[in-house]
Amino acid sequence: MSTRRFAWLSAVLLAALTGSAPILADTAPTLPTEPPAAEAQVLTTPRYGQDIQPIFDRRCIACHGCLGSPCNLKLDSFAGVQRGAFALNPYATHLVDYPRTDMDAVGTLAGWRELGFYPVLTEDPSQDDTGAENLNGSLMHRLLAAGSAFNQPGFSREALAPVYAGRYAYACPSTVAALDAQLAQNPAQGMPFGLPALDHQDFDTLTRWISAGAPGPTEQEQQATARAAHPAAVARWETFFNDPDPRRQLVSRYIYEHVYLAAMALEEDPETHFRLVRSSTPPGEPVAIIGTALPYDDPLAYAGVQRFWYRLHKETGAPVQKSLFVWRLKRAQIAHLDHLFFAPDGPGAHWDAQAPLDPPWGIGNPFSVFRAIPAEARYRFLLENAAVFQLSAPGVRG
Ligand code: HEC
Repeated sequence: MSTRRFAWLSAVLLAALTGSAPILADTAPTLPTEPPAAEAQVLTTPRYGQDIQPIFDRRCIACHGCLGSPCNLKLDSFAGVQRGAFALNPYATHLVDYPRTDMDAVGTLAGWRELGFYPVLTEDPSQDDTGAENLNGSLMHRLLAAGSAFNQPGFSREALAPVYAGRYAYACPSTVAALDAQLAQNPAQGMPFGLPALDHQDFDTLTRWISAGAPGPTEQEQQATARAAHPAAVARWETFFNDPDPRRQLVSRYIYEHVYLAAMALEEDPETHFRLVRSSTPPGEPVAIIGTALPYDDPLAYAGVQRFWYRLHKETGAPVQKSLFVWRLKRAQIAHLDHLFFAPDGPGAHWDAQAPLDPPWGIGNPFSVFRAIPAEARYRFLLENAAVFQLSAPGVRG
């Protein structure tokens, strides 16, 4: 990179970091010419749900949307944004001692910090009117400013080839100083990575939000989002899965172990996605996910409880296509499953009375673990729902 280019980057970053995004637009000759933001917009702080998440959804979550995202940074919910990033690379040699990083693995922000996640926004926002400190301390803003400076139309991705080639050994910079050093070495590493920069309006909205201390949704908004619109539909399914009859419990386990990655879309509420989880709390109470590493791990031992319940947990993060496997469930499906597995005038007549109804947990041959369930009911269930199982293999290449 030429010294001239670097000097220009520094100037642009400085301008951006002092909270003056419009200066960035004025300095960069190649920025698209969009109308300046209306005055009213400049004065109000952007709201997370309405203004910020949609930008992340459009421009970031294709890469930062699932488990194993670059730097483990998930931008599909405020909790993920706030949790921040994690320098250990899941694709390096950490398969064994890499901690579980699903959003439910740790309950508090302090817990994430303890695990090693670092903020990408200023952790203790300053109330300073200029917002300069908040921008200055934000890894995210520095990366967006670098993206705006270098990835304007006509940019080349060649400069990223070495980063891509070394991706398995890559460790994310966790401090402003380390990130600055990286960007000085390779200013093309701004965000969105290898893609055209944010347009002027999105960049301006994010800049104003970060400089205002990156406020999240209110507690009330979060609760409203987490609430199911059709609790009766959820209750019907939870009743089906939690019937204490041992044969029914084995069928619930069989179904769970096949659909734990699926997004359940109920006929009564088709736009909402639920995930079937195992919880230490019964229906009616808030879900407390028992987050075993594998779906066939023992939930009782893991959570230290005597009993667990299957629950429908509402997904509140933005759906990401590559990890979205929708399992559409008509209301009549409950009666159908009842008939398929248990009716004496169908496959349900052939339960194997010699096989255990409470086989041990842990890795095992599923043909043996579930052999009490009539084979025809098992294979019909798999055939009828094949689209969900065939697709359930999320992959990320950030
Ligand atoms: C095409 C994939 C891709 C997209 C889209 C993308 N990123 Fe990234 N992001 C990456 C990669 C790869 C890294 C790690 C490599 C790097 O930092 O250069 C990363 C790292 C980051 C980091 C962490 C840096 C650190 O030091 O921990 C932040 C913050 C970030 N991105 C923000 C964003 C934001 C905000 C957007 C959307 C405006 C975005 N990214 C869009 C691929 C992407």
